[in-house]
Amino acid sequence: MRLHSNPASPFGRKVMVAAHELGLADRITIDDHLLSPVEPSAAVIADNPLGRLPTLVLDNGHAIYDSRVICDYLDHLAGGGRLFPQAGEARWRALTQQALGDGMMEAALLARYETFLRPEELRWQAWIEHQKLKVQRGLDWLERNVDELAEEPDIGGITVACALGYLDFRFGADEWRDGRARLAAWFERFAARPSMQATLPRQM
Ligand code: BEZ
Repeated sequence: MRLHSNPASPFGRKVMVAAHELGLADRITIDDHLLSPVEPSAAVIADNPLGRLPTLVLDNGHAIYDSRVICDYLDHLAGGGRLFPQAGEARWRALTQQALGDGMMEAALLARYETFLRPEELRWQAWIEHQKLKVQRGLDWLERNVDELAEEPDIGGITVACALGYLDFRFGADEWRDGRARLAAWFERFAARPSMQATLPRQM
């Protein structure tokens, strides 16, 4: 399998953390791409009309995206029910944590694009603050409800951990740990996992 990704992408990291946890990482070859919303990659578009990362191309040529679908696919490949609890409260909890982590990553990415990519005269400060507030509210919810995060990795914990890792990578100056000691302690334990250590973000 081939994964279109980028070493800084928190969504790409999420897929590879899942692959490592499932013992599938060595079956995936990573094709890293340098792209932006205004400079898409023809190679990625050939497999995904949205041109978005990550996109997984199977050995039969079929492409799977987005990160949610890829992680679900990998879980099935590994027998099912490993990262995605199959039923009951645990399932809805993990899927909702995944939605929260994805939303925080999306908001952080939008804030990053607005500050890093957009020409200075076109920047919209209220938009950046609105995206950062979404992240702050997510962090506050996680601090209050950290007991809901599983110690053993599931798709909820993996997604939240990748969101926190991206905040460290791109928004370190915002000091998300301030006033959130419980979440910081959970992340410290989770970030020590080999799957997280093998996928540390880096600038391409
Ligand atoms: C980043 O540089 O922060 C980044 C690059 C690609 C995808 C997502 C984030």
